[in-house]
Amino acid sequence: MRALVQVRDLAVAYRQTRVLEGVSLEVRAGEILAVVGETGSGKTTLAMAIARLLPPEATVRGQVEINGYDLYALPAHAMRSLRGRLIGLVPQDAMAALNPVLPVGAQVAEVFRAHLGVSAPAAWARAVEALAWVQIPRPERVASLYPHQLSGGMRQRAILAMALALHPPLLIADEPTTALDRITQSEILALVRRLQAETGMSVLWITHDMEVVAALAHRVAVLYAGRLVEVGPCRKILEASAHPYTEALVRTYRDLLAGAWGEPLYAIEGYPPPAGHMLPGCPFHPRCPYAQPVCRERFPDPLWRGEHMVACYFPRGDWG
Ligand SMILES: Nc1ncnc2c1ncn2[C@@H]1O[C@H](COP(=O)(O)OP(=O)(O)OP(=O)(O)O)[C@@H](O)[C@H]1O
Ligand SMILES: [Mg+2]
Repeated sequence: MRALVQVRDLAVAYRQTRVLEGVSLEVRAGEILAVVGETGSGKTTLAMAIARLLPPEATVRGQVEINGYDLYALPAHAMRSLRGRLIGLVPQDAMAALNPVLPVGAQVAEVFRAHLGVSAPAAWARAVEALAWVQIPRPERVASLYPHQLSGGMRQRAILAMALALHPPLLIADEPTTALDRITQSEILALVRRLQAETGMSVLWITHDMEVVAALAHRVAVLYAGRLVEVGPCRKILEASAHPYTEALVRTYRDLLAGAWGEPLYAIEGYPPPAGHMLPGCPFHPRCPYAQPVCRERFPDPLWRGEHMVACYFPRGDWG
């Protein structure tokens, strides 16, 4: 499959704090790629680097290509217009991104006015269509409501309508369902799957939740302390994970699913390294039950088997 986004050897630091190192990854045309990792692992930094929206204190090395455009080689104005056409973004604090004193319809309409230069009534009509498209019931009525008058799920749909208004080939969504209850969350995930299949867009979905991964993703990339440690098809990651960290993540998820009442849940011992503390070897080695001296020395080169990549000296399962 063609790669829509190609990330090559990406490294990001906030001043002296290195938070991403050696990340190479593609988002293919027409796929949902989930990036999973615990808090502080660099997920938002990766999403923002791909949209070239990092704050000014960030320094970026490596390359991000979208549709053949080398993003960090573009002048700022070219980047702005490219971003508008290519990327729909749902940022991590999307709920806060809605303007509380403007009806949601007006906020969606503004996207059409700003980018397509259509008249106000035409933009409003398009906004109502966009709200209907994300399955908001009675969109004409909802369009005139203020964000606080909507449920969390409806607000999230309105935010998706804004991000997808111009039918971008790439949607980047940063943990958009974390604040929602389970049922609302699974409705949003089902909606995203449907919209993705309908449009053939690519989706980069950031989450810390294996349940979301299982419900949504075609492929999964696992980030640990700023390093990509495993990438592969969703089934492989869930059923035949190769990295000890992924194995532990999947195990906690399985325990949750099994609902082992009263049993202690499996937990990964220890903590990830503090921010910016890039260890010379594999960042997981202090917590890894299989670590050997070599794991402390140098980050392992990626191993590939077909679609499946793992960065580990001692991969699990049938890799060993
Ligand atoms: N503007 C910034 N300046 C300095 N450090 C930052 C900045 N933004 C993020 N960081 C640090 O970079 C690291 C990665 O942050 P990032 O937000 O990318 O992680 P994350 O995986 O998205 O976490 P979460 O799951 O909590 O959203 C963290 O240690 C964070 O404290
Ligand atoms: Mg984040």
